[in-house]
Amino acid sequence: MLNRKTEWKTSSRQAVGGAGNEPAASAAAPRRRTLPRLLSSSPPRRKRRHRLLEMTPRSAHVISTRSWAMPVIMCLLGILTVKVFFLSRSDEYVSSSRVQEMVEVEVQRRVQQQVSLLNSEPHTLPSEERGPAVANNFPPTADLSEKDRMRVLVTGGAGFVGSHLVDALMKMGHDVIVLDNFFTGRQKNVQHWIGHPSFHLITHDVVEPIKLEVDQIYHLACPASPPHYQYNPIKTIKTSTQGTLNMLGLAKRTGARMLLTSTSEVYGDPEEHPQRETYWGNVNPIGPRACYDEGKRVAETMMYAYENQGEMEVRVARIFNTFGPRMHPNDGRVVSNFIIQAIQGKDITIYGDGSQTRSFQYVDDLVRGLIALMNNNYSGPVNIGNPDEYTVKDFAELIKSSTESTSKIIFMDGTKDDPNKRKPDITLAKKELGWEPTVAVKDGLVETIKYFRGELKKTGEIIPTGPDASKPRNFADPDPPRQLRSP
Ligand SMILES: NC(=O)c1ccc[n+]([C@@H]2O[C@H](COP(=O)([O-])OP(=O)(O)OC[C@H]3O[C@@H](n4cnc5c(N)ncnc54)[C@H](O)[C@@H]3O)[C@@H](O)[C@H]2O)c1
Repeated sequence: MLNRKTEWKTSSRQAVGGAGNEPAASAAAPRRRTLPRLLSSSPPRRKRRHRLLEMTPRSAHVISTRSWAMPVIMCLLGILTVKVFFLSRSDEYVSSSRVQEMVEVEVQRRVQQQVSLLNSEPHTLPSEERGPAVANNFPPTADLSEKDRMRVLVTGGAGFVGSHLVDALMKMGHDVIVLDNFFTGRQKNVQHWIGHPSFHLITHDVVEPIKLEVDQIYHLACPASPPHYQYNPIKTIKTSTQGTLNMLGLAKRTGARMLLTSTSEVYGDPEEHPQRETYWGNVNPIGPRACYDEGKRVAETMMYAYENQGEMEVRVARIFNTFGPRMHPNDGRVVSNFIIQAIQGKDITIYGDGSQTRSFQYVDDLVRGLIALMNNNYSGPVNIGNPDEYTVKDFAELIKSSTESTSKIIFMDGTKDDPNKRKPDITLAKKELGWEPTVAVKDGLVETIKYFRGELKKTGEIIPTGPDASKPRNFADPDPPRQLRSP
């Protein structure tokens, strides 16, 4: 070993010393692989290093280590293979394909459990909670011919007005698609149609585009009560602008006629009374109500821009205050608040001195008006409302007597930009649509009071929403969606 080391050093030195390509020196050198020769040879670097190792004392150790390592490794591998073999035959071992199989079986079991729950549930629930109809007990629908039946999209169809419109369209025999993000809408409003082959419910936000095949679009999606639309004003603006653009895009692509539910709020605090469609309005563009009022005004603008530019068919309904069953108990609107306060014997709160006027129409009249407008040739904006005008104070008195309540009427500070007067001129609707309201306010109130009494019975106390911006309250919903009920 020592000799080899010395030789190595010597030959290295020689090689360095004779770097001048001296043939004599090369010839004299022993025929042994020296470092310079190794470096000048051509094999790849790794191979060279390997050879170099072989020349060192360490290489002997490596080689000797390898000589006993191989059998040991082989032996270990053998033991491992035998162990795996026995394990695979024992109960403890579960292969990946077996795991997948077990997961699939479990998923199937849970799906079956849910399905049988859904099938059995309506029969096990008390009839009062079941809602008006379930599964094969739908309200009657007309049998329209293929040629007359349309696919009708109702955005905001799970809301107060939307759900009544859906009822009417379903009863007429159309295929109805409800699209709603459930911000203020509730599934219980359309619960009685779930499972009907002509009814489809899509949870979707109109601010996002959607592709559907439809013949008509009623575009209602937008919160309508001031505390709710003021809760997230930017979202309200987006809903009225981007949401309407998306629906217009859909209408244009499918060739569908589209109706927008605009509002009497486009007249703002009006200087003309009663308000005709020709009146341009008096809206504060930066006030707390602007997100809704201006949003609807822009939506109208877009409707007519598309009509003029895109040869589309559009309809615009300017809706005045509407009331009826399925109003959200916490929407903070005049009718719902007064009724809830009156039947609970709480103070009836008027914001302002109560001299401001409102005209209220029953929801059935509105729905008739919307359908008449959609299917009419007149395409300009049309007021849909009941000209039966009340001061807010008189209306509070009417609610108090209709509910036989002992509540006190109290007055609070007025709210900003609250319109002073509101009454529709419906000459145009009468002329063009042959439409006018037929339900007297007092009769409509009977139905609405009955509805609120029912809500109160199911939920217990209801605290009405004040005028400040607030999120729709999801208090214990008396009729949660069927899927979510526990067994
Ligand atoms: N009820 C009235 O007195 C009245 C008066 C004037 C105009 N309007 C208009 O009629 C329409 C319906 O009003 P309503 O009283 O039924 O109100 P509502 O709040 O009960 O219904 C609105 C529906 O739209 C849904 N919605 C809101 N934002 C949405 C979004 N971004 N995407 C999808 N769905 C969304 C809500 O969840 C709800 O189901 C609204 O366009 C409203 O501006 C109503």
